[in-house]
Amino acid sequence: MALDSNAVIGVVGAGAMGAGIAQVAAQHGHRVVLADAFPEALSRARASHARAMSREVEKGRLDRGAADAVLERIGYVTGQTAVDLVALAACELVIEAVVERLDVKVNLFRTVESIVAPDSIIATNTSSLSVAAIGAACERAGRVIGIHFFNPAPVMPLVEIVPAITTRAITTESARALIDSWGKTTVVASDTPGFIVNRIARPFYGESLRMYEEGLADIATIDWAMRELGGFKMGPFELMDFIGNDVNYAVTSSVFEAMFYDPRYRPALTQRRMVEAGLLGRKSKRGYYDYRDGATAPEPMKDSVLGQQIVDRVQAMLINEAVDAVYLRVASPADIDLAMTKGVNYPKGLLALGDEIGPSEVLDRIVALQTEYGEDRYRPSVLLRRAVKQKRSLLA
Ligand SMILES: NC(=O)c1ccc[n+]([C@@H]2O[C@H](COP(=O)([O-])OP(=O)(O)OC[C@H]3O[C@@H](n4cnc5c(N)ncnc54)[C@H](O)[C@@H]3O)[C@@H](O)[C@H]2O)c1
Repeated sequence: MALDSNAVIGVVGAGAMGAGIAQVAAQHGHRVVLADAFPEALSRARASHARAMSREVEKGRLDRGAADAVLERIGYVTGQTAVDLVALAACELVIEAVVERLDVKVNLFRTVESIVAPDSIIATNTSSLSVAAIGAACERAGRVIGIHFFNPAPVMPLVEIVPAITTRAITTESARALIDSWGKTTVVASDTPGFIVNRIARPFYGESLRMYEEGLADIATIDWAMRELGGFKMGPFELMDFIGNDVNYAVTSSVFEAMFYDPRYRPALTQRRMVEAGLLGRKSKRGYYDYRDGATAPEPMKDSVLGQQIVDRVQAMLINEAVDAVYLRVASPADIDLAMTKGVNYPKGLLALGDEIGPSEVLDRIVALQTEYGEDRYRPSVLLRRAVKQKRSLLA
């Protein structure tokens, strides 16, 4: 079923993500029903929409009339029962963005399915739960899909479209076409832990934490190396402080568990201790760095030999992870490279970077780590070995 701008869009959960998604849909001409169990969440969402539209007017991107029209297209609904949410009956697509708990999402999907038309699509914005498990709550699981936006949804261009094994092809096509029409860059990911971005990005944090834990370098030096020599916008420790160490630890732990405790995804004890100590990052004014007034930032060592060693190691682990995601058909090579540049602003797609460095050099680095440490964490992807043997591009 093709969805056009006449389709009414439902969004359930008006927190950071839901409010942003509702705004994007309304800015693209849709009438939107935004629902939340709590009236305070809706008041905050309404205020954030008003602020966002005023900013658009100030920046000259919209005139006042058009900005008001966007705001008028959003209806705010409080409640969580089928009676409260009856306004969703008009929606051809409902996107769920409530708390990250399977029991809550399953209950909500049952309720939403009892309200909407039989051919409406019901999507989840989950970051870490299985779309199949959520879809199983519905009688028509074929219309359930993951539509994974990044935070903040109005700004971040990437959206991962995640069909479950039970999702019908027409649901995937319609969802992707609609989100493309909102000016987003869509990639299709398989329903596997972390989808594309949250899976492949793990070594950016994990390998940096490992080097810090073994005393190879301090956090300021690792961040400096990844920024200045690696070309990343932020170093791993500054980025973890920005995301929140609690959030980052939760994502890592959930991917680790969902991957049946594969050591490649094991969280670091350092992360856990940071969370236990309440050193959550910018939001608690202390994390790997001190953000309190008057605090001074630690100086990096700026040793280019050490810096390059750090960058080489993290890059090799990231490329190996990206190649393994191709091998396990998490997504196409092109979508994997697109996802890492558009979802987490990497300076270059990891497969393209691997080709540039040379697959055999990447393999040598991983094998050297595996030999030195003797850990399964450093096992090279079979596809990397094959690419080297067959002298093939990693993007092929
Ligand atoms: N924050 C991120 O960076 C991010 C990025 C991508 C995806 N996600 C995913 O998006 C979802 C929402 O995340 P968030 O950061 O916006 O959370 P949030 O805590 O800011 O918002 C969740 C909202 O859901 C509401 N809610 C809870 N239970 C409800 C129910 N039964 N019915 C209706 N409303 C209910 C809460 O009142 C709250 O307003 C989660 O699945 C999360 O994993 C988050």
